[in-house]
Amino acid sequence: MSTSKLSTVKLQEMKRDRQKVVMLTAYDYPTARAAEEGDVDVILVGDSLGMVVLGYDSTLPVTMEDMIHHTKAVTRGAKSTMIVTDLPFLSYHISTPEAVRNAGRLIQEGGADAVKIEGGREILEQVQAIVRAGIPVCGHIGLQPQMVNQLGGYKVQGKDFEGAKKIFEDALLLQEAGCFALVLECVPTPLAALISERLTIPTIGIGAGDGCDGQVLVVHDMLGITDRYLPKFAKKYGELGDAMLNSVSQFAQEVRESKFPEAQHGFKMADDVLERLVEETGRS
Ligand code: KIV
Repeated sequence: MSTSKLSTVKLQEMKRDRQKVVMLTAYDYPTARAAEEGDVDVILVGDSLGMVVLGYDSTLPVTMEDMIHHTKAVTRGAKSTMIVTDLPFLSYHISTPEAVRNAGRLIQEGGADAVKIEGGREILEQVQAIVRAGIPVCGHIGLQPQMVNQLGGYKVQGKDFEGAKKIFEDALLLQEAGCFALVLECVPTPLAALISERLTIPTIGIGAGDGCDGQVLVVHDMLGITDRYLPKFAKKYGELGDAMLNSVSQFAQEVRESKFPEAQHGFKMADDVLERLVEETGRS
């Protein structure tokens, strides 16, 4: 297990040394602890929390307050791991000063080390301004879940020439704008491999194949805790949802059958204290 936080410089060295970057989402204290003890390089407090933790249908309802609240919990659980927090929908679109202010809140109030922002050429000004303020920025292109209503669903991006060229160009533009890393979501494997080859900053793929410099998954997907449709790239490493359900059902059954609690789960008191209490309260 690593003992000190990765820096953005170290991440770029990892790319040069062909060392894969492991990123995983976390939204609360116990998951952050597991991520740190399980030796992930970077924790992402993703706005996917809107879907997997808060039960929304998309990431669009997620607010700055939600992101700050969950980032605080994660920072308490993972003190030695780099923490990147998503700028949620509409927190960076209205104006560049507002984008910088909101990025700053994730750092100052939430305790994040860096922010992630969805978008390509249309948000370069915001990326540059946030970087100028001293805040490391991770880009995110390909499928941008905050644009789901414009995209007409969660679909693979960059399959045709025009789409692939736009993603490729956006990747270069975001690197030039100062991003320290780039998430590539749901793009064809060869496109992600080409982008990864041409960039000096690490690419972190999700549904982008094995040519990326690192990989990220949504923790609830990989642990098997979600009831949402799982995309084919989301490999399940556990069945914790089943384990939760079994435990809850067993608890409910044992309470109804008076099998829980047992004597070992209770606390004793001195007989004379009980006798006196019974006497003084007049009940047998
Ligand atoms: O919000 C999130 O979890 C993300 C990952 C899917 C990369 O952006």
